[in-house]
Amino acid sequence: MQLIDAQLGKIAEFAAILRGGGLVAFPTETVYGLGADATSSDAVLKIYETKGRPRFNPLIVHCADLAMAEMVAEFSPLARTLAAVWPGPLTLVLPKRPEAGISDLVTAGLDTVGVRVPDHPLALALIAAAGRPLAAPSANPSGKLSPTTAAQVRTALGKSVPVLDGGPCKAGVESTILRVEGDTVTQLRAGAMAREEIESILERPVLTASSDSPIAAPGMLASHYAPRATLRLDARGPRPGEAYLAFGITPPTVSLMPRGELGEARNLSPSGDLREAARNLFAMLHDLDAQSTAIAVAPIPHGGLGEAINDRLRRAAAPRG
Ligand code: TXA
Ligand code: MG
Repeated sequence: MQLIDAQLGKIAEFAAILRGGGLVAFPTETVYGLGADATSSDAVLKIYETKGRPRFNPLIVHCADLAMAEMVAEFSPLARTLAAVWPGPLTLVLPKRPEAGISDLVTAGLDTVGVRVPDHPLALALIAAAGRPLAAPSANPSGKLSPTTAAQVRTALGKSVPVLDGGPCKAGVESTILRVEGDTVTQLRAGAMAREEIESILERPVLTASSDSPIAAPGMLASHYAPRATLRLDARGPRPGEAYLAFGITPPTVSLMPRGELGEARNLSPSGDLREAARNLFAMLHDLDAQSTAIAVAPIPHGGLGEAINDRLRRAAAPRG
């Protein structure tokens, strides 16, 4: 809390940078974002340049509250039902309201827009002080691991971007993305809000976008969140020379490995808690990536947040294109 209070003192300065068309990095409950005024094409262009991001990959618009979001996008009653979870790790892709003046660079020319209200006091204070919606992708070079601490943002982006430090992100994986079109709700990206939680709100199943559909998520490239090290998934234990990312109780083969042969190891959650694992995922991958060229990853269950964790791991392991 002390950290947050100290950083709240910087909000006015950071909001002024945003209003002047500059970039700032800020914490959200999912990962750190690289923010710009979503209504300024010049400002948004700097995001694409700083990240080296393909221009066809649209950005999420972060709003201070539902009222701001309703200026950016058209909400059906169904969309409002889902928006009741805000502030929270859920992005809704809805018809864009042209009169809001959101830059076409944010939406990559689509007539839909992704909006969310992040659940972090610094993010909410920053958006409110800037007085406009913020376009913000994760604050990492395109295709690399998303940052969950301020230190990772500084390492990835250097000194050119000021960073609000909100401590480690509590969710640790990006928001779940849903497209709402008429009566249809389609999950475009698994994320920090579990499918089961969404289905219990809707009282029906959520569709899944097929990965080859172009609309699915223009930015969902197979190789994404890539560490430098190679990843071997569903590994019961490390081979000599591999670092190990464990989950749950460490298998006896690993505990019995001779000291010299056991590389660096981390455990996503010794108690097998998927929330804890999601929170630790990127930070531990960052960590092991800095120390090893090969990482073996334990099998992770697929339910709940396991869907997002397995999705990120698959992308991190995919061959680089
Ligand atoms: O948790 C998060 O969502 C984080 C934090 C910073 O809020 N942001 C984030 O942004 O993950 P980014 O840029 O890394 O991912 C945005 C995703 C992309 O896959 C993009 O294709 C999708 O959102 N997206 C945005 N607008 C869209 C739209 N109109 N239609 C379909 N997909 C959209
Ligand atoms: Mg990203």
